[in-house]
Amino acid sequence: MKTSAVKCHELKRSRLFLFLCAIFVIVNLIIFQSFNLRYTIYLQQNSSRPRVTKFGEKIWNNKTERKILLWTTFFLEKKWVRILQEHFQRYGCDCNITGNRDDIQTADAVIFHALDLWFWEKLPTYRSKEQIWILFVAESPPHIHYTGMTWKFPPYIFNWTMSYRSDSTVYAPYGRFRVKKSPGIGTIDFAKTKSKMTASLISNCYDDAKRYVHLKELAKYTKVDFYGRCGDKICPRSSECDEILKTYRFKITFENSNCRDYITEKFWNALYSNSIPLVNWKKDQRLPFAPPRSYINIFDFRSMRDVADYLNFLSTNDTEYNSFFQWRRDYEIEGGDVIWHMFCKLCRKLKVNPLDAQVVDYLSWMQNDTCQTWSVSIFLQTSSYLKHRSHLQRPISLTYIMSDMRMDIDPVVWALQQRSIYPNDIYTRHRS
Ligand SMILES: *[C@@H]1O[C@H](CO)[C@@H](O)[C@H](O)[C@H]1NC(C)=O
Ligand SMILES: *[C@@H]1O[C@H](CO)[C@@H](O)[C@H](O)[C@H]1NC(C)=O
Ligand SMILES: *[C@@H]1O[C@H](CO)[C@@H](O)[C@H](O)[C@H]1NC(C)=O
Ligand SMILES: *[C@@H]1O[C@H](CO)[C@@H](O)[C@H](O)[C@H]1NC(C)=O
Ligand SMILES: *[C@@H]1O[C@H](CO)[C@@H](O)[C@H](O)[C@H]1NC(C)=O
Ligand SMILES: *[C@@H]1O[C@H](CO)[C@@H](O)[C@H](O)[C@H]1NC(C)=O
Repeated sequence: MKTSAVKCHELKRSRLFLFLCAIFVIVNLIIFQSFNLRYTIYLQQNSSRPRVTKFGEKIWNNKTERKILLWTTFFLEKKWVRILQEHFQRYGCDCNITGNRDDIQTADAVIFHALDLWFWEKLPTYRSKEQIWILFVAESPPHIHYTGMTWKFPPYIFNWTMSYRSDSTVYAPYGRFRVKKSPGIGTIDFAKTKSKMTASLISNCYDDAKRYVHLKELAKYTKVDFYGRCGDKICPRSSECDEILKTYRFKITFENSNCRDYITEKFWNALYSNSIPLVNWKKDQRLPFAPPRSYINIFDFRSMRDVADYLNFLSTNDTEYNSFFQWRRDYEIEGGDVIWHMFCKLCRKLKVNPLDAQVVDYLSWMQNDTCQTWSVSIFLQTSSYLKHRSHLQRPISLTYIMSDMRMDIDPVVWALQQRSIYPNDIYTRHRS
């Protein structure tokens, strides 16, 4: 008697639980879908507002030193302050780095990392005339939006942008090709060291770029070993993994979004390990310069089958395979630390005296992207989710719903309005 009563009770409880779960899932899907749709619409708008507004004024900074204040964390980490300080010391970059918000009154530049600019974050309440506020962007727009940043912060607060996009004020790519001082001689047989075909190491199987869809198609016609969260092979998290990956002829370096110039460290890491990177670059997703035959773009082919045929051909013809390494005679790559090097570049740029006073409209700048997002139907997304048992991306937040309301402000007028927020009377000069 007693046990069956308990069972019945449990059954009722589990039914209620299932019911609540179902409600939760449905509500989530609706919200997720509508956000995704709005987001897509938002990105595809053409903004007619100028991206950079110059005030026609020269700003002098006659101090001998420059101090850079990192206002936010970097992917929630505070330690980028120490990393940058050490980097600056090692490479003799002549600016001071600080993470102490109390230094705001003496800082010459203030850096805001976009992905850490959550809507609950506070901006400095002090802004001096010489101070440059910089939006630092290391991820693609689809990832920035869910912080709520575009909803909270008006479009004209930053003076400069710094990012992988080549149209940033400070261009900060994840890596770059450099002409060698003296060209290398002789040719190395790179094919000789390769015993395996293609490696994929991807941790997010559901994304805007539909990486997994292309990969599965490709794997039908050529051998692809899947490592990482979406795969069945395990790569130990150490140098051992590097050794394993080095034996592959090709490396999948698909980016998770197809956005303007969005090329991350994956690409450079593949070059470092002497593999040929297989990229999924679309439209304006380009490096300003890449030597011929330094990568293979799957979208240069008609189908994944054609890509596979080409890879299979290269694996049987060492001469052809090695031709993808010929650029190494004249060029070398700079990856890894490059993102930190870019802060040295920023440091040098800060020393230009005087500077032209300007603001960038970061919303308009982000809208002028060519991101291709995948917001088809909730069913597609759900089935893709179940099929690959991956983790759904966090839904993109409310941001862009509100952001349109803040758009038609004249930057100069805006700067004037800010005077009440920034007590140190710096905006009066725009009044005349
Ligand atoms: C935005 O502008 C581009 C080129 O000027 C055009 O091809 C595209 O259709 C426009 N998009 C919208 C939504 O108006
Ligand atoms: C900084 O130096 C320049 C050139 O020497 C000078 O014209 C300017 O007035 C100085 N600015 C300040 C704020 O001292
Ligand atoms: C950094 O600041 C300290 C004191 O605040 C100063 O002694 C030092 O020279 C500065 N370093 C650079 C590279 O500007
Ligand atoms: C968008 O950005 C590209 C690259 O920076 C530039 O060539 C183009 O003129 C921009 N379009 C608009 C409408 O600002
Ligand atoms: C490999 O490719 C080269 C250049 O395209 C060609 O000359 C050669 O005959 C090919 N070798 C084989 C074994 O197919
Ligand atoms: C930075 O932006 C502020 C806010 O609009 C503006 O008042 C100031 O002149 C700008 N400074 C520089 C050096 O661009």
